[in-house]
Amino acid sequence: GICISVLLHLSRREENPNRCVKEVPMARSQNQAPFPAYRPRRLRAKSALRDMVRENALSPSDFILPVFVMDGYDEAHSIISMPGVSRHTVDHLPALAIRARSLGIPAICIFPCIDPALKTQDCAEAWNPDNLSNRAIRAIKEAVPDIMVMTDIALDPYNINGHDGIVVNNEILNDETVEALVKMGESQAQVGADILGPSDMMDGRITKLRSMLEKKGFYNVSILSYSAKYASGFYGPFRDAVGNASALVGDKNTYQMDPANSDEAMRMIARDLSEGADMVMVKPGMPYLDICQRAKIEFQVPTFAYQVSGEYAMLKTAAQNGWLDAELVMLESLMAFKRAGCDGILTYFALEASEVLLR
Ligand code: PBG
Repeated sequence: GICISVLLHLSRREENPNRCVKEVPMARSQNQAPFPAYRPRRLRAKSALRDMVRENALSPSDFILPVFVMDGYDEAHSIISMPGVSRHTVDHLPALAIRARSLGIPAICIFPCIDPALKTQDCAEAWNPDNLSNRAIRAIKEAVPDIMVMTDIALDPYNINGHDGIVVNNEILNDETVEALVKMGESQAQVGADILGPSDMMDGRITKLRSMLEKKGFYNVSILSYSAKYASGFYGPFRDAVGNASALVGDKNTYQMDPANSDEAMRMIARDLSEGADMVMVKPGMPYLDICQRAKIEFQVPTFAYQVSGEYAMLKTAAQNGWLDAELVMLESLMAFKRAGCDGILTYFALEASEVLLR
């Protein structure tokens, strides 16, 4: 069985030699001496030896830190369903950015918690140059110019019904939404965003965003597309954090992907790359490591995973109850993304994990 699958793999590889990142291994049993000459435990016997043969590494430069932002001054509200995570007012962001950058974290991703009074059906607050998100971007770039600021491009924080797109007669409109997203992306680039993160799952958005960026002279603003974003139950705590949980009418199944699909994710990544995405994302993370690995093997582009709010909440609350070792599961879950082939992870553990790794 093993031989046949290796042969199949090798013959497939000959059709397209660029398809695989790593060399396809020969049947491993042929290279190994029998026991006791081969004692795998030899290489596990000493800590320094384990360090020597470790295949993957985790470092603060692998992390993107998501930050929830709210209106007001000098306040932080903790998010009950995400122990250890708070929403901050904009004036807190410079200190947070300094802390993140000094730990070696390369990027912060902004998620605004918008005043319900500003939510409308046309979502116009999304491209207000002075909206909360744009004020946050400016505050971080002024304080720490060399930390990358990533944005979220989707209309849900600004939408009266919590959807990522414009809703008319219960339909989430695609092309009208893309026009709105382009205005939103332009306002973010204007205030200094380095990386645009379209998380909306509308069709054709990358083409339109890229051509806007080129036309307006933002040729160095990159796009990290949430290419394979699934309609997931694991976003629950996030919707609490940005105050959208009660706002959402219906579900997001007509635009986010079906969790049953894997080939479709590859089509989405291929499509987004062909439209001008520089980097791609798989979301959620832990339940979708197969998608991460497949994406990296098939495309060999910078590939990120979003360890989403529900994944964080599961690990944190189990640890708080004493059922899991907090630090062990944090690092193990993050290492799993590296092992799967991810170049980085958007994770609520970014600060804590960096501190542990630098200790
Ligand atoms: C909005 C958006 C969501 C998340 C990131 N951007 C929620 C959603 O699609 O409903 C979820 C992140 C998380 O759960 O941590 N487009």
